[in-house]
Amino acid sequence: MGGVFLNQLHFKKSIIVKRSLAEAFHYISHFENCDQWDSSVKESRKISSGRVGVGTRFEIIFGFGPFMGPILYEVKKYDENNHLWLYGKGSSYEGEDKISFLKIDESSTQINYEIDLEFKGFFKVFSNSLKDFIFRFGDRALEDLKRALEVVPPGPKATFLDSMKDALILPSILNFTKRGHKTGKKRWNPISTYLGGKKVLLTGGNSGLGRATALGLAKLGADVTIVSRNEKKNSETAFLVEEETGHRVQVETRDLSLLEEVKDLSQKLLKDGDPIDILINNAGALYNERVVTSEGLEKSFALLLLSPFVLTQNLLPLLKKNSYSRVINVSSGGMYTQGLKLKGLEMREENYNGSVAYARAKRGLVTLSEIWSKEWSPDSINVNSMHPGWADTPGVANSLPNFHKLLESQLRTPEEGADTIIWMASAPELDQTSGHFFLDRVPRSTVLFPGTRPSKDLTKKFYDYLKEKARPYLLES
Ligand SMILES: NC(=O)c1ccc[n+]([C@@H]2O[C@H](COP(=O)([O-])OP(=O)(O)OC[C@H]3O[C@@H](n4cnc5c(N)ncnc54)[C@H](OP(=O)(O)O)[C@@H]3O)[C@@H](O)[C@H]2O)c1
Repeated sequence: MGGVFLNQLHFKKSIIVKRSLAEAFHYISHFENCDQWDSSVKESRKISSGRVGVGTRFEIIFGFGPFMGPILYEVKKYDENNHLWLYGKGSSYEGEDKISFLKIDESSTQINYEIDLEFKGFFKVFSNSLKDFIFRFGDRALEDLKRALEVVPPGPKATFLDSMKDALILPSILNFTKRGHKTGKKRWNPISTYLGGKKVLLTGGNSGLGRATALGLAKLGADVTIVSRNEKKNSETAFLVEEETGHRVQVETRDLSLLEEVKDLSQKLLKDGDPIDILINNAGALYNERVVTSEGLEKSFALLLLSPFVLTQNLLPLLKKNSYSRVINVSSGGMYTQGLKLKGLEMREENYNGSVAYARAKRGLVTLSEIWSKEWSPDSINVNSMHPGWADTPGVANSLPNFHKLLESQLRTPEEGADTIIWMASAPELDQTSGHFFLDRVPRSTVLFPGTRPSKDLTKKFYDYLKEKARPYLLES
């Protein structure tokens, strides 16, 4: 165990939370979440690899009084659903957090939190005077922990400031960088959802945002199936996620720009018959050179729009099997530059521009999300789309090298880009939310530039056009 505490202070408090024992233990043992419920913590992260257990290490950056700066914690005892002990050491602090869990009934748990702590160096002298101050923070942290585990926040809303930024365009675009994530984060609610037993189908799950999403959702307990084209990257991702979370990840290796492969995958999943709780259409690429697939389709259109259309339509019976399910379509801020097009959706050789083709398909995906959200609301299938901001992923580095070089220091990490996807998949406050376009957990306007808002008539024609294009690949539902 940790050190011998000579000038030891002892903090003890119990709370009862309306969450099952397994869920409460799962959330708290992921100690990297403690910045969600302890206001004295500025940042927290897991710094060792592998699933949480004895030896797992966390770096917690405290931001008040003598605790300014990092404290390194290590799990010393991990007895699932019973005990969690952590030993923490910083330049002015040493302490042991001993947390025990007691089942009260199926949906409530008693959490006993004890800390033996000691100040070191200069602050040792002030131990007694600091005691009340520290214990007040402890009390507050446990009240906040209770709230994090119990309270479902109200549904998301754009503030006046968010709408102003959208109206002024430039501030909205500046938010696509790291900065947007950093500012947005200040307003976020904890995610204490447990996704145990939930089935997630995630396209493009072996790289960049998709890989970060697979990991984030498996950490929350979900059963994730990833669909991507590269077999080696698929197995590496499955291995990584399993190592990190202890959850098995299923893999489907398909080229999703080929609609026959999408159809074949749909048939397989329908035959297996497992309900899908969350479908995330994330696979994507920007093709600077025009490519026509072996099925005769322009590849940006095929991969970014027709493929999610066919996959989602075909899997509708599996989405309907639950009393409630979610579809998340990963679009892009690039779509703001384009209005909805029918003729130019599959761009011709003579005027092909990869960024424009990409933006048109992504605009189409946002429009499609709005159509589906209305059509499927009686079946309690929520459909929302999102923009991850600009994130440093292999996709961006390969297809937009100049943009990547110019903005490298301002790009988000894949985890920051994936945050909103994970939140959309897991936040209970989104149970009733459908038909929105999110960035940094806030619903945003889908139109920034004049003339890019699709009319009702065009939207209907667009939907008919997609149905017609998809007809050979759609299964009877
Ligand atoms: N990063 C950003 O800043 C940003 C901004 C806006 C929107 N987005 C969107 O976010 C999504 C993820 O992009 P990312 O940046 O994370 O890029 P990434 O690192 O290149 O990942 C793309 C993923 O899509 C898969 N994929 C691509 N073509 C495929 C195909 N034909 N069949 C099956 N899977 C295919 C890739 O798998 P394989 O490697 O196996 O092909 C990979 O898993 C995309 O839809 C992208 O448009 C990203």
